[in-house]
Amino acid sequence: MEILQLLIREVKNSDATLSIVPIVGMGGVGKTALAQWLYNDAKVNSCFEKKAWVCVSDVFDVLDITKTILQSIIRSSDDDKDLNKLQVKLMDNLAGKKFLVVLDDIWNEKYEKWTALLKPFEVGAKGSKIIITTRNRNVAFITRASPYHLRELSFDNCISLLAFHALGVTNFESHPAFEIIGKKIAKRCEGLPLAAKMFGGVLRTKSNLDEWEDTLNNKIWDLPTAKNNEVLPILKLSYVHLPSYLKRCFAYCAVFTKDYEIERDELVLLWIAEGFLDGQKANENILKLGWKHFDELVSRSFLQQSSIDATKFSMHDLLNDLAKSILGGTCFSSGGSQVASNEHDVSSLEKTRYASFIPSWFVTSKFLKTYQGMKALRSLILVHDGSSGGSFFISNKVLHDLLTNLKYLRVFSLCHCCIVEVPNCVGDLKHLRYLNFSYTDIKRLP
Ligand SMILES: *[C@@H]1O[C@H](CO)[C@@H](O)[C@H](O)[C@H]1NC(C)=O
Repeated sequence: MEILQLLIREVKNSDATLSIVPIVGMGGVGKTALAQWLYNDAKVNSCFEKKAWVCVSDVFDVLDITKTILQSIIRSSDDDKDLNKLQVKLMDNLAGKKFLVVLDDIWNEKYEKWTALLKPFEVGAKGSKIIITTRNRNVAFITRASPYHLRELSFDNCISLLAFHALGVTNFESHPAFEIIGKKIAKRCEGLPLAAKMFGGVLRTKSNLDEWEDTLNNKIWDLPTAKNNEVLPILKLSYVHLPSYLKRCFAYCAVFTKDYEIERDELVLLWIAEGFLDGQKANENILKLGWKHFDELVSRSFLQQSSIDATKFSMHDLLNDLAKSILGGTCFSSGGSQVASNEHDVSSLEKTRYASFIPSWFVTSKFLKTYQGMKALRSLILVHDGSSGGSFFISNKVLHDLLTNLKYLRVFSLCHCCIVEVPNCVGDLKHLRYLNFSYTDIKRLP
C-alpha cells in the first residue's frame, strides 16, 4: 500500500522529475509478484501515460534494456545498434510524459552503467517512476533511493498460505490432525511465500500424517543451507516429489530464458517431439495427456500464469535455476549481443541435448559456432521476444552450416526471423518432429 500510494499520489511542484523505487528482498519473497501487482493495478494504470517492463536478470546491457523499453513504449521494432540514437528516440517519446518503468531482477552494481541507462529518463514529466527489484542491497545503494525491504511473511500468514496450497483452506481448523506437523513445516518455509506455495504443492497429494512426517524429515534439509542465489532446498524437495513423468517435462523448461512466457500448446508439442509423453501406455490422446501434465505443473506452482499476458505462463527465477541445475551440462543457452564463450571443450558440447539461443539483430556464424559442435543436440530454440516487436536476420548459408551439423534434432524453432525460404537441409533432419517457422517471411514450402 505504501508503494501504491507513492505511485498514485498527486505530484507536487517540488518533486523531482524521476524517482527510483527499489524493492529489495531475498529470492522467493515475492518482489516480482509485488511489482507485477503494482504494474497491473488499475489506479496505477490511469496515472501513467507510458509503461514498460523489463526483465533484466544477470546481464545488465544498457543497449538491450534501452531497446526493450523503447519497443514497449512505441510498440514497434527498432533494430538500431547505436545506443545514442536509441536514447534520442526514447527521449523523443518520453518528453513531457509521465511514465512507469519496471526493471525486474537487477544485479548490476556498476554506477556508470546505471547512470548511462538513466540518461534519457530525465525528460519525462514530474512524478515518473522507475521500480527496480533486486536481491542485492548494493544495487539499491547505487540508485541513491531509499529501498523498500520486502520482508518475509509472518508465521501466521505462512501457515495460511501453506494450508491453502496443501488443503485448499486457509487454516488447519478443519484438519486438526495436521496442525502440529503443518506448523513445523510452515517454520521450514522461513517466511518465503514461494517456499510455502511449493511445499503446499508437495503436500496436496499426500493425505496421511506419515507422508507429511516424511516430507518434513527429508534429508534434503541437512544439505548445506542455500546462500543468496542458490537453489532453495524446498525447491529441490518439491522436485524430488514430482512423479517421474513430470520430472523431465519440468526440467526441459530450463531451455527457456527466465522471462520467457510459455504457451501451453507450444510446450506440450515440444514434450511430444522430445518423446517425453507416452500416450500409448496411458491409452490416451497424447495431446490431452500433455495438457494434463501441464496443468499438474501449474497446480504444483512449478509454472504460474503470467500476470502480463494471462494466456501464457512463466516460471519463477529460482525454479528456472533449479531446472538448469537438474539438466546441468545437457542444457545450454546463450545469446544477445554476446558470443558464446568457447571454453566448452568438445566432449561437453557433445553432451548438450537442449539448447536455446537468443538472437540479436544479425546472427552470424560466429554466434552459432558453439552450437555447431553439439552433435547430439535434440532441441534448438531460437527465442526472440516477438511481443515487443522486432525480428532478426540469419543467412541461408549460416543456417545451412548449422543444421547439417545437427543430425539428431527433434525440435527446431526459428520464429520472428526474416528468412524468406526454408533451407533445403531441413529435409535431411530425419528425426525432426517439431518445426516452428512462425512469424518468418517464408512465402512457400518446398
Ligand atoms: C511457434 O512459436 C511461436 C512463437 O514462439 C508460438 O507463439 C507458437 O505457439 C508456436 N507454435 C506451436 C505450434 O508451437
